[in-house]
Order: sequence, then C-alpha cells, then structure tokens
Amino acid sequence: MEKPRLFISRELFKDIIERLSEHFQVEVWDRYKPPPYKVLLEKVKDADALISLLTDRIDEKVLEEAENLRIIAQYAVGFDNINIEAATERGIYVTNTPEVLTESTAELTWALILATARRIVEADIFTRWGEWWRKNTGWHPKMMLGMELKNKILGIIGLGRIGGRVAEIGKAFGMKIIYYDVERKRKLEEKLSIKYRGLEELLREADIISIHTPLTRKTRHLINEEKLKMMKRTAILINTARGAVIDTKALVKALREKWIGGAGLDVYEEEPLTLNHPLTAFKNVVLTPHIGSATYKARHAMAEIAAENLIAFKNGEEPPNLVNREVVKVRKPGFK
Ligand code: GLV
Ligand code: GLV
Repeated sequence: MEKPRLFISRELFKDIIERLSEHFQVEVWDRYKPPPYKVLLEKVKDADALISLLTDRIDEKVLEEAENLRIIAQYAVGFDNINIEAATERGIYVTNTPEVLTESTAELTWALILATARRIVEADIFTRWGEWWRKNTGWHPKMMLGMELKNKILGIIGLGRIGGRVAEIGKAFGMKIIYYDVERKRKLEEKLSIKYRGLEELLREADIISIHTPLTRKTRHLINEEKLKMMKRTAILINTARGAVIDTKALVKALREKWIGGAGLDVYEEEPLTLNHPLTAFKNVVLTPHIGSATYKARHAMAEIAAENLIAFKNGEEPPNLVNREVVKVRKPGFK
C-alpha cells in the first residue's frame, strides 16, 4: 500500500518531519505565514491526514472538500478552530497536544501576573528610554508602585491542567486561591487547599483573575461588561487561554473608565492584534503575541505528540489524544 498523504500546515521540527516521512508522504507548508484559506481547501483535497494549527480554520467547507481525510492532529491543546461535530459526523479523528505545554503556559501566566502587578514593561520603557534620567528623581518613594501578591486572592477561571498548575505556583507566592469551573474539582481543592466560588463571587473577591477555560459556545464573551463591572477596581485580569473568552470592546471600556486595575494578555479575539489597537494605549496592560506554549521543550514535545497520534492511527490504534471520542462509532482507526 502507498504511504498515506500527510499535509502539515506549517514547518515543524526537522527530526519530527523525518520520523513522519517514514510513515507518510509528507507535504509541508514551509512559509512563515499560515496557508490562506483557499490554499487549505486545495491541500486537504488530496490529504489522508493533516497536522493543523490554531491559525487554520477547519470548518464544514474544508471538511467537505477533504474527501480522503481520516485524521486531523491539531498542533495545540485548544481546538476551537476545528468544527468538531462536522469532523465526527464524517468519521474524521481529531487529536490535540495536552500536558506537554501545561508548564510553559502556566509559567507565561505567571510572567504576565508579575509583569502586570509590578509594571515591568512600563518600568523597562521608563528606564530604557531615559524617562528616569530625564526626571532625575533617583530612588523615589512613590515611583512605579505596584501590587504585592502575598495574602492577595488569586481567582482561577477553569481549573484544568493549566489552571491547576497556575494555582499551585500561586501557593508559593503566599496567595489565597479560589476557583470557578463548570465542574467541582474536589481532589484538587484538597490537595492545594483552594476554594470553589461561583463565577460572580470569584470576580468580586479576587485581586488577580486568570482565565484557563477552552473557548466554547458557553465561554465566548464569558467576561463581558457586566462581569468586568463586578471586579475590584484594583483587580488585574490575565488571559492566556483564548481571546474570545473576553469581550474585547468591554475590556477596552473597562480600562478606559478604570473599572479594573490592569490586564495581562497573551491571546486576542483577532490575531495578530492590529497596529494601534485600543489595547496598546494603556500603560497598565501587558501584551504578548500568543506565546503560552512557546518554549523549545513544549513546542518540540507538541510535535512529537502530534506524530505519535498520527502513527498510532496509521497502525489501526485509537490515537492517545483523541478529542472526539464518539468518532470511533463512525469509523475504525486506520487508513484502509
Ligand atoms: C495554544 O494556544 C494551544 O491551544 O495550544
Ligand atoms: C531598596 O532598594 C531598599 O533597600 O529598601
């Protein structure tokens, strides 16, 4: 049998491509930019397997074109860019890359918490561009004052793997930790001695609020104008999950009218964030370009996992990180 055809929508690590080439006829989209939607529609026509990124919109139309497609290995933990129901109906397996990016994303979350609470970016610009020198204040008692974290309340929205790790690190800072989730996580509550709250209670109580939910119909604009108004005027909002969990327009309004103290954001409703976006005007906002999993270790491990899922599937096994479990009722794993 000919090797099945695999389209990879962006250049991954060489060793992984080599390994995959032993099992698949591999085609890699090796430009720096993602393949345009039209190109994606073309490429999936001939593909038996696909490695997709969160920049690829895998909607019903793409899946319709993809007559031979049997598996999509998403190179990310989130998969809101894929129409999962439509994939399942067509018997297309979808896998993701959980766990290996938990640490990196939790660490970036903490980088944003600290950077926002202690005004690191603002302070760097102040120092670097000579504001400090021009003002010639020397050490000033009230210069760049921020928030001390010890004994403050950290509110986690979504206590999954990443949220759980962020909570764990929060203990080391001496923070009190509360969480909201659609499910109570009693074991974690006990292990980390953290407390459950309703969403509104959490928003009213927390000094730092960090979002770790997937993007679904239910979490889209979960943080809207009404919710932002519930937050403390000093509260800092952190998002390393998906941009659309926050209503961006409402957030801009909240920052402009000082309903909250600041924000640290890694994800946006529209990526890349546009030039001169209203969010860029605020000194109390720290912005990073969706780099939660951007460590060498995590990104390489994500590629390994995507490869393992594809190879397992090719061997007729259920891939280890299957996200649409019901698909096994529609079709057995494998390319035959
Ligand atoms: C990144 O955002 C991911 O979902 O892995
Ligand atoms: C600060 O530099 C201090 O010594 O308190």
